[in-house]
Amino acid sequence: MLAYGSDSSAIKDDRLVITQSISGTGALRIGGEFLARFYPSGKRIFIPTPSWANHNAVFKDSGLEVEKYRYYNKDTIGLDFDGMLADLKAAPEESIVLLHACAHNPTGIDPSEDQWRKISDVVKEKRHYPFFDMAYQGFASGDTKRDAFAVRDFVQEGHQICLAQSFAKNMVTLHGHREAMVLKYSGTLRRARRRLLHRVRISRGEETRGFAGQNPRPTTLFQSSSARCPNRLRDPQ
Ligand SMILES: Cc1ncc(COP(=O)(O)O)c(C=O)c1O
Repeated sequence: MLAYGSDSSAIKDDRLVITQSISGTGALRIGGEFLARFYPSGKRIFIPTPSWANHNAVFKDSGLEVEKYRYYNKDTIGLDFDGMLADLKAAPEESIVLLHACAHNPTGIDPSEDQWRKISDVVKEKRHYPFFDMAYQGFASGDTKRDAFAVRDFVQEGHQICLAQSFAKNMVTLHGHREAMVLKYSGTLRRARRRLLHRVRISRGEETRGFAGQNPRPTTLFQSSSARCPNRLRDPQ
């Protein structure tokens, strides 16, 4: 609800699948491993340069190949928007693209709403798979709704997205209570949705085995979906 908004069609149409994880880091790991196993269109994830220091290792360890797209322009101390768009356009079709939803770490520089719309257009044109990492909702603007702009706009634009949401340090912090994950899926495809949930549970079970005895709390959301899902997340060959 915090990420998508109470009026989100993804929630109203029951197209979300949610699972717990060990904080935002665990959500990224489960999301990465889930895509490495079940995303049929290549195992490449593009992350920004620079990105949170752990992204590289988490995704590599998940079984994905990590590539980079331009993000920071040190001359302007701002977003290298043209470089970013050019790299997303140059990436192979249907690549996975990691996007910091707000308060980009480590630069603190985010695209404007207009720039997000243009990024969305390129992601759509190239049929990329957007994987949002939202670790700081509310920290960039002080407003959780404004900081959710990219996620909500992408969903509204019909993208199927994956969202790893951490509550460890956002404005509704449950600090020390780490976990959760959501997957959005078409409500009309109930069998596919059930299968997807099952797969996420498999990944999560493997990730959290070592934590038996602990009681992870909901903190991270992982979302995907819509009508394109059956093709994009089909059974592995
Ligand atoms: C961009 C980004 N993503 C994910 C995380 C991980 O979040 P968590 O502390 O909930 O594991 C962090 C933590 O610093 C982060 O900066």
